[in-house]
Amino acid sequence: MKDTQNPPGNFGLPIIGETFSFVLDPYNFVNKRYRQHGSIFKTNILGRPTVVMVGPEAIEFLLSSHMEYFSWREGWPQNFKKLLGKSLFLQDGEEHRRNRRLIMPALHGPALTNYITTMAEITHHYLKKWEKKQEFTWFQEFKQLTFDIASQLLLGTNSGSENSRLSQLFTQLTNGLFAINPIPLPFTTLGKAIAARDQILEHLAEVVKERQQHPTKDAISLLVQAKDEDGNSLSETELIAQAVLLLFAGHETTTSMLTWLCVELARHPEILQRAREEQLQLVNKGALNLEQLGQMPYLEQILCEVERLHPPVGGGFRGVVKEFEFNGFHVPVGWQVLYSIFVTHSLEEIYPNPERFDPDRFSPQRQEHKQYPFSLIGFGGGPRICIGIAFAKMEMKIVAAHLLRSYHWEILPHQSLDPVRIPTNHPKDGLRVCFQPL
Ligand code: HEM
Repeated sequence: MKDTQNPPGNFGLPIIGETFSFVLDPYNFVNKRYRQHGSIFKTNILGRPTVVMVGPEAIEFLLSSHMEYFSWREGWPQNFKKLLGKSLFLQDGEEHRRNRRLIMPALHGPALTNYITTMAEITHHYLKKWEKKQEFTWFQEFKQLTFDIASQLLLGTNSGSENSRLSQLFTQLTNGLFAINPIPLPFTTLGKAIAARDQILEHLAEVVKERQQHPTKDAISLLVQAKDEDGNSLSETELIAQAVLLLFAGHETTTSMLTWLCVELARHPEILQRAREEQLQLVNKGALNLEQLGQMPYLEQILCEVERLHPPVGGGFRGVVKEFEFNGFHVPVGWQVLYSIFVTHSLEEIYPNPERFDPDRFSPQRQEHKQYPFSLIGFGGGPRICIGIAFAKMEMKIVAAHLLRSYHWEILPHQSLDPVRIPTNHPKDGLRVCFQPL
């Protein structure tokens, strides 16, 4: 292994490396270098020597076949550790396995079925609000909607002014994740994010105490009662850390996908019409329920295409804990790895005309993502695939089904829909629309 060379690429300037170019435009940063060097190349970003890995083969190596070579905790930038604490996202090995098993039931199976009514009720409340408003910025609205759903189902707290305060605190926390200035003064992005985190922790400490005394049906109550193989439950500090993560991961990403879904449906009236027809056939069979949610193949194709073309999360970080070789290149312990979701989803050899929005790529006849495993990775993949995937997909289907059945919207002029990819992918001006009942 020692005879092999490091991957091609450039470390850039001393200390800051190529961080600025990466943060300014992560997609073009990775895409340009991928075209030059191929599926593994080196750079230096966020203070560390880094290899970037692109394409199904590289992603399978990282997420599945050689995942024991990589650590999540050692990978995600320092700010993640400061802001997301000791949560599942930043755990490895036995500790991660135990906690994932404890959290899993709150986001799958019967618990999920119980969430349908609440998701539909909160969606309905927002639809009525939007009917009245007629013109608004959808990204902000979806943030509140998905936050209300997450806090009600995960924490058991009802919507209201406390929720909009918390939702704003989460926005500040998210902004801090990729802040370049590492100095946590009160006026820096990181400083504000830490202050927001402290207020969130304070609030969650109260919620957790309350649920420990009076468990209800939300995810935190399930977690309070969950026990591992040895009969141990999560401590109060662990519960709070996992709650911060679930709330954070559970709404920013879904907001991003819902916003892009509405952009693409407005841009493609023929696709919207086909999706509407699918819904209108289901309306005759009664209210939206679990069975109906399983009968929307075209909407599922559309959601896969939104996931492909507009993945909310552009990639994932890991730390190398065991030296490895990929495609003949050697990567030492201590380096950072970034796997690119964006660029993998735009590979011409998997997805012809990759820039085109074409839900039929995922039709039973074409199935472009099935040619190679790990081609569609908007939720990650392998044993540590997103734990909220079923929750998010159900929520997005419920919101989309309601919109398609009863509403029409147009994109207002004089705005930029250029993608801004960090911290989560969204159109620059947030998608201002004119919204009406059909
Ligand atoms: C459209 C919505 C969502 C997208 C696109 C998304 C995306 C992702 C991705 C890409 C990863 C893997 C990151 C990596 O490999 O480095 C991940 C992990 C994770 N997601 Fe999601 N996510 C979504 C919704 C949710 C929801 C609703 C929740 C919780 C309620 C959630 C909780 C998590 C957690 C806890 C992990 C870490 C899992 C582990 O390490 O075992 N996500 N998500």
